[in-house]
Amino acid sequence: MSEVRVLPDFPWDSLAPAKATAAAHPDGIVDLSVGTPVDPTPQVVQDALIAAADAPGYPQTYGTPALRQAVADWFATRRSAPGVDPAGVLPTVGSKELVAWLPTLLGLGDGDLVGIPKIAYPTYDVGARLAGATPVVVDGLAAFGPPTKGRTPKLLWVNSPSNPTGRVLGVDHLAKVVDWARRNGIVVASDECYAELGRSDDEVPSILDPRVNGGSHEGLLAVYSLSKQSNLAGYRAAFVAGDPALVQRLLEIRKHAGMIVPWPVQEAMRVAVGDVEHVLEQKERYRSRRETLLPAIEAAGLRVEDSAAGLYLWATRDEDCWDTVADLARLGILVAPGAFYGEAAARHVRIALTATDERIAAAATRLAQRSVER
Ligand SMILES: Cc1ncc(COP(=O)(O)O)c(C=O)c1O
Repeated sequence: MSEVRVLPDFPWDSLAPAKATAAAHPDGIVDLSVGTPVDPTPQVVQDALIAAADAPGYPQTYGTPALRQAVADWFATRRSAPGVDPAGVLPTVGSKELVAWLPTLLGLGDGDLVGIPKIAYPTYDVGARLAGATPVVVDGLAAFGPPTKGRTPKLLWVNSPSNPTGRVLGVDHLAKVVDWARRNGIVVASDECYAELGRSDDEVPSILDPRVNGGSHEGLLAVYSLSKQSNLAGYRAAFVAGDPALVQRLLEIRKHAGMIVPWPVQEAMRVAVGDVEHVLEQKERYRSRRETLLPAIEAAGLRVEDSAAGLYLWATRDEDCWDTVADLARLGILVAPGAFYGEAAARHVRIALTATDERIAAAATRLAQRSVER
């Protein structure tokens, strides 16, 4: 096995001692670590899944034409990205799977570089390694220097809103990335899976937005997940969309490999992307939880940075993240150490808003008591 294929330890396992401490709190744990949705899957989505329960035949790897059209319509109406070709839409078994396998599906391997953000969701790195390629941090294009054969990635990941920081990349920033990538023959994959969970009505532009790409999707892929906005992480429902030629390459291998989204889930997705109401309701739930938790976190001496959109508060107490994790665990609150997301994040923690209103309120109360005692 070559060096780069060696995978990192599964990070969440290292959180077990802090979890045990938090679980021992007399009023129970408030788990704000993993960020798994806790609110019910919307009825309209459940109904669509149930209505499609009779599924004796194999589903289409490509997704039904109705689903691909619904996704294209969603880009037009919800993401300011008209002109998505349904031929360039492909459902995926959740988006983690696509993130982990995209370099492989694009044929990258030994000697190829995959550009990833400095502070990032760990699976971008894992996907490069699974392909036998080399992950390389791209911290702003200038830092990457003039492209040379040995230093130019074949695939570049961007993630906006970012997990873990919640930072949003604007139209100008994304346009510069696309321009640079195109001039150097680099595929850009944009993971936008928190895009509809902006904090306010601030814009979260898509890579498929014509203001970003000049009206062409060539060399571009947007990766999207319904796990968070539709509370259906258990369904494994996501999609990739953009350049039809790239999507055909992915499709060809996925057909051979049986990477197929079950038909009832395709139906649930079709209905979910067509229904705005439940997304707005969910966004409101997270807004209200944020409003409860943020002041309590600040009063307890943490500084919240970025966090413009998405499901997390990105906070620091200017100390090693594991000290912050351990301290909050003593209050029964479990958060994720920044170290999971890169060396540059070793003094931050990620605090998820994915807990019930009751648990978020419990965390706020405990933090408030702590700030009084301080
Ligand atoms: C940035 C980012 N991309 C992708 C995923 C994967 O989501 P899923 O596999 O549920 O679609 C996550 C999940 O937390 C994420 O934070």
